[in-house]
Amino acid sequence: MKNIVLTGFMGTGKTTIGQEVARQLDRSFVDLDNVIEARQGCSIRQIFEQDGEAHFRKLEADLCREAAIWENHVIATGGGALVNAENLAVLAAQNLVICLDCEPNALWERLAAATDRPLLDSADRKERILSLLQARQPAYAKIPHHVDTTHLTTDEISAEIISLYNHQQTNDKNKGQTTNDRNNTR
Ligand code: S3P
Repeated sequence: MKNIVLTGFMGTGKTTIGQEVARQLDRSFVDLDNVIEARQGCSIRQIFEQDGEAHFRKLEADLCREAAIWENHVIATGGGALVNAENLAVLAAQNLVICLDCEPNALWERLAAATDRPLLDSADRKERILSLLQARQPAYAKIPHHVDTTHLTTDEISAEIISLYNHQQTNDKNKGQTTNDRNNTR
């Protein structure tokens, strides 16, 4: 397995958790939104305002394809990146993809003062969070692994992710061993 990819709605803690998991596994951490901002030389909000959401989604999809073949990274995607089924397929092919979940009320509290999420510009932010969550639910449900972060600490969430990762590593090794055994008996 190449990378651990963390996704999930805005405010679920992808960056904080990703940094901690990367630290514990001694891997590099990359936040895909930061890469887009650095390459474009402006903020996500500016990209949305100047070129529109469709342009941002194209940059995001291109970067998912690029990131899919990196090795040994912990990657945080933007909250909408894997709502696109092709982005999910491309990243899930060889990486461990985990969706961080969180109850809407906790999300609303975490995001109440955020000014850097253009999709949350609304007179009623709580309603906006609820409707976006609802619209994205079927797409998030297709992500292979989930960790509910609502009542857990960073350490607890990181431990769950590392346990999923270790489990996956063991499965991959066993699969490799079975294939070797099969080839040796031919
Ligand atoms: C978005 C989430 C943001 C960022 C952009 C769009 C989304 O990332 O990619 O504002 O569609 O949910 P975070 O989830 O890191 O806030």
